[in-house]
Amino acid sequence: MDKIRIRGGKALHGEVEIHGAKNAALPLMAACLLTDQTLMLGNLPHLADITTLVHLLGQHGVTISMNGGAPNGGHRGRVLGLRAARITRTIAPYDIVRKMRASVLVLGPLLAREGTATVSLPGGCAIGTRPIDLHLLALERMGAKIELKGGYVHALAPKGGLEGAEIRFSSVSVGATENILMAATLAKGETVLHNAAREPEVSDLAHCLVAMGAEIEGIGSDTLRIRGRDRLHGAEYNVLPDRIEAGTYAFAAAVTGGRIELVNGRPEHLDAALEVMTQAGVTIEPTARGFMVKSNGRLRSVDVTTQPYPGFPTDLQAQFMALMAVADGASMITETIFENRFMHVPELMRMGADITVRGNTALVRGVPALHAAPVMATDLRASVSLVLAALVADGETTVNRVYHLDRGYERIEERLAALGAEIERVGDT
Ligand code: EPU
Repeated sequence: MDKIRIRGGKALHGEVEIHGAKNAALPLMAACLLTDQTLMLGNLPHLADITTLVHLLGQHGVTISMNGGAPNGGHRGRVLGLRAARITRTIAPYDIVRKMRASVLVLGPLLAREGTATVSLPGGCAIGTRPIDLHLLALERMGAKIELKGGYVHALAPKGGLEGAEIRFSSVSVGATENILMAATLAKGETVLHNAAREPEVSDLAHCLVAMGAEIEGIGSDTLRIRGRDRLHGAEYNVLPDRIEAGTYAFAAAVTGGRIELVNGRPEHLDAALEVMTQAGVTIEPTARGFMVKSNGRLRSVDVTTQPYPGFPTDLQAQFMALMAVADGASMITETIFENRFMHVPELMRMGADITVRGNTALVRGVPALHAAPVMATDLRASVSLVLAALVADGETTVNRVYHLDRGYERIEERLAALGAEIERVGDT
């Protein structure tokens, strides 16, 4: 298993190009199941999770073509043509779903198009129990019969297909909103989703569905109104830039006292995080190509509570904690989305951070310096928070279990090295 070795203490300078968002790309790829025509997706990131979903879609009978030129002559990134001319299998097996929970996003499209779907229950993961009850309740409201048997969800649509329904989610769920949004595009009649997630990734999916012929009102709001269609058609669509990748590199500039331009970064998708950074003493400026982050490395402590969009994202909480670990003063970081998303805390403490956790709140007392140590983490964002900590720690830190980073950050060691970090990937010996 590869490791990453980092010698801390270098301020990062330069520019970094933000890639397509993992969490937008995954639902967009699942949307190909809704039509027998080709969905051409551009600006896809090169990430392990994308490969996992390509594998799953292949099992459903989707043919996948690589294409050199981006749709609309636009972005660089990877371009894939996905064509579900005929769905040959409606089972999403445990072997794939356990590797990546987002596999559950095939449930809504398969059920809407084929009238039946059998999808492994994803089970818990490193950040929480993460049930899918909201997805299933909503599909039941649309007339589906759901049975849980042998670790699988067996879903069956009524004879004439899924029926439009008025659905009020009891709490905000990105995945449930996406799954039901996709299902509703092929349902009979109108579906209204109340308390829908407003994440930019949800809106990206909705815009792509509209390009495929779906009728959706209220995109970007918490009420989505979808009028079902008999069929959708192919489309060309570019995945939006990754706000979490942009936020992570912005934090890298902030914590090292550097200056980085986030090319393709969309500051409007990071309002809450950029506001907090400004309060911490970091300068953010829009540029023609994205935005610039500048810091002298002296950060002030700020309290943060994670919230659904447009609040501070849970996917930046671990990284922000690495910043607060070396800030002036004390910061309270409250995690409201996932019940177990403090797995980075003991590892940061092994590097000298002073953190006390009570329930879903971490009290982070800034220390003058962190110190190198061998560390590892059990999820993607926790792993990258250790990379940020290592960038400012004294000495040489080894971050183990790099495969977590490869799920969400494309060639992170090369890109940080290009910004001046002393970092290398080493194979296991
Ligand atoms: N929840 C339920 N029941 C459900 C669905 C969700 O109780 O049926 C709970 C979850 O357990 C969690 C909360 O609701 O406590 C929010 O979960 P949500 O469904 O919004 O999360 P998700 O769709 O599973 C996506 C991202 C996550 C990101 C969350 C929150 C993808 C592929 N994943 O997950 O990304 O943290 O939204 O913004 O889009 C990551 O990229 O590192 C990552 C974990």
